[in-house]
Amino acid sequence: MKPVAPPQTYRVKSFGCQMNVYDGERMGELLAEHGIQPAAEGEEADLVILNTCHIREKAAEKVYSDIGRLVAAGKEAGKAPLIAVAGCVAQAEGEEIMARAPAVSIVVGPQAYHRLPDMLDRAANGERATDTDMPAIAKFDALPARRRRGPSAFLTVQEGCDKFCTYCVVPYTRGAEISRPFAHLVAEAQKLVEAGAREITLLGQNVNAWEGEDEKGRRTGLGGLIRTLARIDGLERIRYTTSHPNDMDTDAGRDLIAAHGEVDKLMPYLHLPVQSGSDRVLKAMNRQHTAEGYLRLIERFRAARPDIALSGDFIVGFPGETEAEFEATLSIVDEVRYAACFSFKYSPRPGTPAATMDGQIAAEVMDERLQRLQARIGHHQHAFNRASVGRTCDVLVERTGRHPGQCLGKSPWLQSVWFEGTAAIGDLVPVTLAEAGPNSLKGVLA
Ligand code: 5AD
Ligand code: SF4
Repeated sequence: MKPVAPPQTYRVKSFGCQMNVYDGERMGELLAEHGIQPAAEGEEADLVILNTCHIREKAAEKVYSDIGRLVAAGKEAGKAPLIAVAGCVAQAEGEEIMARAPAVSIVVGPQAYHRLPDMLDRAANGERATDTDMPAIAKFDALPARRRRGPSAFLTVQEGCDKFCTYCVVPYTRGAEISRPFAHLVAEAQKLVEAGAREITLLGQNVNAWEGEDEKGRRTGLGGLIRTLARIDGLERIRYTTSHPNDMDTDAGRDLIAAHGEVDKLMPYLHLPVQSGSDRVLKAMNRQHTAEGYLRLIERFRAARPDIALSGDFIVGFPGETEAEFEATLSIVDEVRYAACFSFKYSPRPGTPAATMDGQIAAEVMDERLQRLQARIGHHQHAFNRASVGRTCDVLVERTGRHPGQCLGKSPWLQSVWFEGTAAIGDLVPVTLAEAGPNSLKGVLA
């Protein structure tokens, strides 16, 4: 590769989960620290980072077509951008990307992006650089202080996964479970609040597996961390995602459930994926919990916090899934009455055990099951919204609405609420929920 001028501007395109959004923000902060600024709206950036996701569908294909588009646009403009591929596709297929896409200068995995500045120097010298090491804690130590503004911020507390569900690439792309140290998290949360955050969402692939030592050196779990963060002045709301059912049946899990009844700032919302309602399928997925065990767990959360909104993830068409097994998934949706859900067609991931299992399900069957599942989920979501009508709650204003005099924000149950009136972004305003739609509610300033 030819040596190139060091980039002045960057753009990060993040795909996939909230963890990627967080990583994208942190890469931006790191670049800004090195004098590289975000490209202005509509302007070509000198450096484009494709922050990829590998969890479903043709992730790698999307990356190659994005690279193709960038190269074509660069030719037209007479100036090719420096292209970096980050995220889980970079981790899983770094070498192939380098071989197949000569336009790519940098491949950097999700645990190595703190070394981007060094890789950019090498790219400026005409070298191509790959870094897919997994020193996760070193990454966090090497990143600059948070500077993000905005009322709602993410904070990664835990990364990686040791669960090895048979369909999933995450244990391979994000590595083993690690917890960031308590003191670092409290300091980062403090910084976010100083920068204007009023809500913090604690992130982790298995966020409730987080463990650490508090300021007195005592072992503590996520509930203890939340209780400490709740003492930060100016922080009004705490959320966390994604939880795993198997990490709830521990002392730390019990404390987290209790925290839902005791910590006002902890929002009444729980994202707890179950994936399937069939015990046979759950076993084949290596989930190590049953549908019944999951339902009992939900009951315990409801006992601690009766109004808690529940959310989950589902996969339809796992290899061998029969019609009756799929119907068990519909039943669990009815039993839990979720407020919101994510549902996906099973997608074979190269290198995972399920990809080579017998009984792969035809695309049409998956399509049809997904439609039925989403209709059922939508029914309960709308019902949950309707049941909220008449309640008065605080809404955290996130932006002003499409029309002047309208504001849009989130209820404690993570519903989108819009209302007429003037409020500033970041205000917590009391709103009476007046009308329910399937995906949002209309409110009236109380
Ligand atoms: N196919 C479909 N969905 C998947 N998920 C993870 N791996 C796959 C796959 N191979 C879903 C799970 C998980 C969510 C983040 O993505 O439901 O909880
Ligand atoms: Fe993937 Fe299962 Fe780990 Fe979740 S718990 S990240 S689905 S392996």
